Amino acid sequence: MDSSKLLRAFPNEQSLGTGTRPYVNHAVAFKKKYTASKRIKKLAEVGWNVFFCPSEYVTGCDMLSDSGTTAMTNEQWAALHLGDEAYGSNRGYFLLAEKIRDIWGEAFFNPDARKPNAFIFHQGRPGEDALFTEIGKLGSGMQIPSNGHFDTTEANIRANRITAVNLFSRELMANEDTPFKGDIDIARLKILLEKSHKKIPLIYLTITNNTGGGQPVSMANIRETSRLAHRYNIPLFFDAGRFAENAWFIKHRENGYMGKSIRAIVREMFSHVDGCTVSFKKDGLGNMGGGIFLREGGLFMKRYPHIPDGLMNNQILSEGHPTYGGLTGRDIMALVVGLEQVVTDEYLDHRVGQVAYLGNRMTELGLPMLTPFGGHAVYLDMNKFFDDTDKKASDFGGIAFAALLLGLYGHRVSELGNFAFGSYDKKTKKETFPEVNFVRFAIPRLRYERQDLDAVADAAKALYENRRLIPNVKVMYGKELSLRHFKARFELR
Ligand SMILES: Cc1ncc(COP(=O)(O)O)c(C=O)c1O
Repeated sequence: MDSSKLLRAFPNEQSLGTGTRPYVNHAVAFKKKYTASKRIKKLAEVGWNVFFCPSEYVTGCDMLSDSGTTAMTNEQWAALHLGDEAYGSNRGYFLLAEKIRDIWGEAFFNPDARKPNAFIFHQGRPGEDALFTEIGKLGSGMQIPSNGHFDTTEANIRANRITAVNLFSRELMANEDTPFKGDIDIARLKILLEKSHKKIPLIYLTITNNTGGGQPVSMANIRETSRLAHRYNIPLFFDAGRFAENAWFIKHRENGYMGKSIRAIVREMFSHVDGCTVSFKKDGLGNMGGGIFLREGGLFMKRYPHIPDGLMNNQILSEGHPTYGGLTGRDIMALVVGLEQVVTDEYLDHRVGQVAYLGNRMTELGLPMLTPFGGHAVYLDMNKFFDDTDKKASDFGGIAFAALLLGLYGHRVSELGNFAFGSYDKKTKKETFPEVNFVRFAIPRLRYERQDLDAVADAAKALYENRRLIPNVKVMYGKELSLRHFKARFELR
């Protein structure tokens, strides 16, 4: 029988709806079975802070972070065995150099140790620490603007007495349903540059914008930011952890990119910047890894020719020889393969589709979600969630929601709102609260199936339907501390 006849006679596979995942399970890990009462007992022991709950008690989905939580592919596990644990110049270092040159551009990794422009670290933040320590030495009163600094990036900037300026897009602030809410606000950037360009050593674009709900940045915004930055002789950097997810959004949402490959879009994105810091625990598909990469011949290298040496000294003092940067040879091999696999359409269609699936499912169930959905997480709006109840900001409903989602239903998520971004002044006893108040459901890469996501959505709905029964939170320890959500202990009352 000829195949075209068959294909015409039956409905095609796309029309059947869901389709299968683009991968199969090769090895699986069975979870422990704990009842809700055991989980609740454990949570009470650790002061209801979900970060301190032993992970084996997370019997549902662990959505605390998408960072370093990737299930690795067969090819990555196989590559681990080829890890070369030499102290100097392991084989993986050169393969990583080739891969970065191939995917981001030739200018981003020069393996010649006499002219270093690529600095690997064991994760993103020690790289940030090294970079801002060097920049901090340039002078006082400096400012680094961004479309949205990640919390550790901001903390590392501040630690070096530099002001971190967040220029979130107007659409993000107004919660409008637009395709590139992660953009930097160009109008405000222009004003800042006119007034203070002499005090700006660097401009940052976080792709995708994690603090801004995982929202993407458009190519038009990258291009315009680069033009403006360069007009004032200021280098532009990416915080590049989710570069591949960002490229997927450009392909699918921005005019003129649908016909281009993800690789071509990534190349174009990187053609506009002078360097980046990166955590490979996201789109490196790695469980560890990070770095700083400077464009050879780019504005950063031209303006600050002494900084690469400072970065290398920092690597040697804190991470070991620059050719392994605090990573085992095995880790590096896994990254080399991960970077190759992350820029494929089949991976990214599934990845971003899975995030949208959870967001849509929760919306269908009536939960107030931030839209459009980003690339790595969905965000539940806790102000709207408790809108018709008597919960006050100081009752920290998001903390109680996260604690009950884990205690009652076994799923772990993080509060990123009144507690995480609020503060308490011990002297004045004054509390401040942020404008946005979310709980984040971050989806680990390649880890969960649709059935798991459905269970998370159903559990969140059960809490929503019973929102008036959700207790208030009393902070027993850590209210006045910085980064207090990582450290605090609570009681539910
Ligand atoms: C946008 C962004 N920048 C930087 C970092 C820091 O990276 P790491 O966790 O590898 O230190 C993160 C981590 O979540 C992030 O999301």
